[in-house]
Amino acid sequence: MNKNTKTLVFSGVQPTGNLHLGNYLGAMKNFVDLQKKMECIYCVVDLHAITVFQDPQELKKNILDTTAGFVACGLDFKKSIIFNQSSVSGHSELAWILNCVSRVGWMNRMTQFKEKAGKNKENASVGLYVYPNLMAADILLYKATHVPVGDDQKQHLELARDIAQKFNNDFKANNFFPIPEPLIQKKLSRVMSLRDGTKKMSKSEESDYSRIDLQDSEDEINKKIKKAKTDSSPIPDKVEDLKNRPEALNLLNIYSFVTNTTVEKTLENMAGKDFSKFKNELSDALVATICPIGKKIKKLKNDNKYLLEILREGTNKANVIAKKNIGKVKEIVGFI
Ligand code: TRP
Repeated sequence: MNKNTKTLVFSGVQPTGNLHLGNYLGAMKNFVDLQKKMECIYCVVDLHAITVFQDPQELKKNILDTTAGFVACGLDFKKSIIFNQSSVSGHSELAWILNCVSRVGWMNRMTQFKEKAGKNKENASVGLYVYPNLMAADILLYKATHVPVGDDQKQHLELARDIAQKFNNDFKANNFFPIPEPLIQKKLSRVMSLRDGTKKMSKSEESDYSRIDLQDSEDEINKKIKKAKTDSSPIPDKVEDLKNRPEALNLLNIYSFVTNTTVEKTLENMAGKDFSKFKNELSDALVATICPIGKKIKKLKNDNKYLLEILREGTNKANVIAKKNIGKVKEIVGFI
């Protein structure tokens, strides 16, 4: 990295539904830690959300809910920049320019598009296809140097690096865009579905029992954990023995992460127990962590004015950086 480059973290979360345990453990918890050490920008990526159709009223609600989730999880909007993507026009402007830097061949390698578009690729929006270029624009617009991402976004970040490099080369703008580094949580990069330990916990999975919502009540958490899929073997004493037991591994991972310990330590304490006992402890740990956040979210959701103020303040701060950088990009590209 260029010596003169200031460290800056950027990450985004799509406002497409309620935040769940996977968002919290896989992203938000890390976002909160990072803001203690570095300058951070956290964005509600509404432009990404509309790559699949969103009901306008729902979208509005989801943008505010996600903002409430950010604040309730502990993001400090005085310290970090919190805003929604569509309110800073630089994202769209830079995305177009980067669409012209990025290559069709690069896009065609993106596995998430293939998954999301499914069988009916011809009918997917063009936006969904070039989604990774917009994500590159998000990061590069602020010349961010570090990007906390889950496993599933690694390939998109790799692409953002390629785009930054190609822009710098094509326009002979040495080191203009820093090449962003991924920050991947080692301890837990993925929380899996409670119904299928090989699938990521996701807002789009149909069954509510597949995920724990940050706004779930104590009762709901208990019920969902009780119903969570496991197998009939007791808890082993070695991590290797969890290799072919994805559901068991997932629950032990969640417990370890929530209680700030390692899976090895958890196994030391739990080996030989059957899952019904372990599940009680898991539920208690989750209730203690999640319910206070859920309560805060619900309270914040009743104060739209406050949430809008937070976004407006973030937008103003983001715009200062974005305007400066997009101005320079336009100059480099040759616009008058
Ligand atoms: N694509 C990311 C996701 O779905 C969200 C995102 C958009 C993002 N822009 C970003 C993440 C920039 C990191 C940096 O999770």
